[in-house]
Order: sequence, then structure tokens, then C-alpha cells
Amino acid sequence: MNYYNEISKGYDELYGEEQMNKARLIASKLVLKKDDKLLDVGCGTGFYLDLFGCDVTGVDPSEELIKEYKGNHQVLLGRAEELDFADDYFDVVISITAIHNFDDIERGLKEIERVGKNRFVFSVMKRSDKFGLIERLINELFVINEKVFEDKDVIFFCTKKG
Ligand SMILES: C[S@@+](CC[C@H](N)C(=O)[O-])C[C@H]1O[C@@H](n2cnc3c(N)ncnc32)[C@H](O)[C@@H]1O
Repeated sequence: MNYYNEISKGYDELYGEEQMNKARLIASKLVLKKDDKLLDVGCGTGFYLDLFGCDVTGVDPSEELIKEYKGNHQVLLGRAEELDFADDYFDVVISITAIHNFDDIERGLKEIERVGKNRFVFSVMKRSDKFGLIERLINELFVINEKVFEDKDVIFFCTKKG
């Protein structure tokens, strides 16, 4: 967490382009209505949130990254492991290159499943040593409908199990 607080001012310059490409790819494949509620877990500076064109909420535990957010959506301090929302509250939940940072990945994914109605997108960093664990948990907790191999991430498009 300290890492993200420390680099907050330079985050968009360092990672902006590569993260924007992933967000564009996700937005282009999600068919969203203007009043759909979308949650982004681990949204960082949230510079790409406007792309989705719907009612967006972001959560991230880094106070400094959140301070860098300049848009009009709701961006809140929070962790994946304890999402302060009702069951099935969001039409879509996404998480872009953040899951490997969760302190408790299984708990974070279970919380995401709880607050989401039925559509989930997880962009997972291929070179993370937790990639195998993350993929196994996604497979256990969700139905994977499509996997897109992006330059640095694999993007999982999922729905709820039974
Ligand atoms: C590589 S950044 C990605 C940020 C943003 N999604 C993007 O694409 O620019 C990883 C993010 O995970 C966040 N993070 C760390 N621990 C987390 C947790 N327990 N729950 C949710 N997000 C977390 C960090 O604060 C950081 O913003």
C-alpha cells in the first residue's frame, strides 16, 4: 500500500497508457446502459472511469491515489475484502490489475461476487506469482465466459455460478 501512496503523483504517467488500453478493451466488450451501476474494485486514480458511460463507483484503499481522482464519479476509500454495499447492488463489478494486491484474495473475490448481480470482469497480471491462485479462485467462484489475452494481463469475463 505504501508503494501506491508513494507513487500516487506519478501513477498516471507511469501506468496510465497500459491501464487505459485494458480499460478501453473492457469497456468496448461490456454493453452498458446509462443507468447501469458499475463498481471498480482497486480503481487507483480512476482516470479511466468515464469510459464506461454509466453510474460508476470506485473503491481503493490508497488515500493518496484516490486524492488524484479528478472526475465526477463516486470514488471511495475501501478494500475488496470489506465492500460496504448491499448484496447484488451493482450490475457489473470490474477489477483491473488489482487482485494480486488484495491481502486476502479469496475473501475479496467472495465480496465482489456478493455485491455484484451477474457480470464481472477481472484483469489479472500475467507475471504475478499469484496468477495461478487467482485463476483457480475465479474458476471456483464464477463461470468464466471468455478469456482475453492482453499484452500484460489476462482478462476474465464472468457471470455468477448457478
Ligand atoms: C496496479 S494498481 C491498478 C489501479 C487501477 N485499477 C488501474 O488500472 O490504474 C493496483 C491497485 O490495487 C489497489 N489495492 C491494493 N490492495 C487492495 C485491496 N485490498 N482491495 C482493493 N484494492 C487494493 C492499490 O491501491 C492500487 O490502486
